[in-house]
Amino acid sequence: MDSHTHPITPPHFEETQPINGSSTTSSPPPSHPLSSNNSQIGQERSKSSSSSSDHSISYEELHGLHPLENAKKVIVTYNNYIMTDELLKLQNGDCKGGLNHHDEHLFIVVHQSFELWFKQILFELDSVQTVLRKVVNYATSHSNEDVDLTVEQTQILVHRLNRADQILRYTLGTFDILETMHPADFLEYRSVIGPASGFQSIQMRELEVMLGLRDCNRNMGSRNSFEEDLQHDLIGMKRLKQRQSEMSVRKLVYRWLEEVVYPKIPANQFIQIFLERKKDHLMFQKCRWFNPETEMQTIQEQIEREMKPAKQWIHIEDTETHIKGRQQFKFKKPSTRGCPFFAQQENVTTEEKCPVTGASSESNTPAAEEEEKPMKRSVNEKIERIKKRRTALLFIMSYRHHHMLWDYANLLDKLVALEEALLMWRTRHVRMVERMIGTRVGTGGSSGVDYLEQTLKYRVFLDLWESRSHFVQTTILPSVQYKTGENMFVFENKL
Ligand code: HEM
Repeated sequence: MDSHTHPITPPHFEETQPINGSSTTSSPPPSHPLSSNNSQIGQERSKSSSSSSDHSISYEELHGLHPLENAKKVIVTYNNYIMTDELLKLQNGDCKGGLNHHDEHLFIVVHQSFELWFKQILFELDSVQTVLRKVVNYATSHSNEDVDLTVEQTQILVHRLNRADQILRYTLGTFDILETMHPADFLEYRSVIGPASGFQSIQMRELEVMLGLRDCNRNMGSRNSFEEDLQHDLIGMKRLKQRQSEMSVRKLVYRWLEEVVYPKIPANQFIQIFLERKKDHLMFQKCRWFNPETEMQTIQEQIEREMKPAKQWIHIEDTETHIKGRQQFKFKKPSTRGCPFFAQQENVTTEEKCPVTGASSESNTPAAEEEEKPMKRSVNEKIERIKKRRTALLFIMSYRHHHMLWDYANLLDKLVALEEALLMWRTRHVRMVERMIGTRVGTGGSSGVDYLEQTLKYRVFLDLWESRSHFVQTTILPSVQYKTGENMFVFENKL
């Protein structure tokens, strides 16, 4: 898959010159072979990028390359590069006059290592957001053009999401190390570290916001907002506000499904075939478990019972059930934000917005405000969008073996893996907390374990999780092919 270019989109990064063929003059000194300013390859890359469409992302943007000629001329040693001396000065608990117990050193090191890993995860997600944003924005404003993620972009997204996922999974073992501290030893210094708490970890909040966790899906306890506890951290809050003003990964991926992928699939035909084949297969399965001659009614009832949620999920036929199904992820009544339906319908929990007016229950961020302008957007339009997203999602997953969909399916799967890892992190943390402090209240003022248990219900990529309930095995579906001229997938003749 590495070497070919995604057939949907023209190639952007083709190398038209061999690397050593770029330098034709003897002075000035040779430039970095990948610098777009100087090298021919760079020029070719830039040319091919800008000539195709401005949604393409330069090689430098994608990989963060910095021309070597800009590098400072210094002797680089391990210590001045890693800044070991500075790093090793940071574990002394200076803000409160030093360490109060032997184990406090471990406590600080563990927290710092988590924060470093969080930083790396945010770094990966930043680039994921940049690529998605560029493609989605371009596709939205050029709906008549055939725009999509290139193979290279998709694979980089998959790669970086995978890295973020692996980091989170890797950090789980750190809790084992922390548990070598006895709860009674923790008590020796716990009183002097309050009211500090992981609750004030800005980077954890950044991670949640970047992924797309909505305020209405958080357990705020008695607080109006999680930001209440962070006001003392001006620099962190500035960063957080910036994150909140950007479109989350969830929103970007959903937009991509709705506006980029959906137009390329034979949606109506696919959904019809998908549901028919699902039903046929259920019949086949039930006839093996029950006797069709004597238990046909049971078979029919069971099929009906299993088909109903799938139909409702795909067609969003029953908005109320749809809403109730999401109730379990809901903690706080969303603010009415001027939408009378929030006030009337207590259980409005759509993962998006009020199903009637489109008013958002998301936080008071500029982006959320902006998104709320289309309050007038009709319910139908809103539901159409969810339908498109789900259809695209099912199509990609159903035909994930198709060479053009393989990377897309991986991308969606990595998002689920990343969220799974985050849930595992939360789970591991809460078990460690229970072992350490039992049912005591937290230093941050929450009910402690009880509060943390509630956070295990958080879900960001709800549609991706829910789609799992409705998949069918690929072998029962007819095959598809991509018609390049039409920029569309079509079913092969024999259905
Ligand atoms: C002895 C070790 C630890 C104990 C007893 C502990 C306890 C708690 C408690 C009780 C809370 C709930 C908020 C509160 O009232 O304080 C909390 C939240 C949190 N802790 Fe820890 N924690 C420990 C170690 C860690 C470590 C090593 C990290 C790594 C960064 C961490 C990160 C967090 C985060 C991010 C939250 C916020 C969770 C959320 O609101 O979703 N904690 N912790």
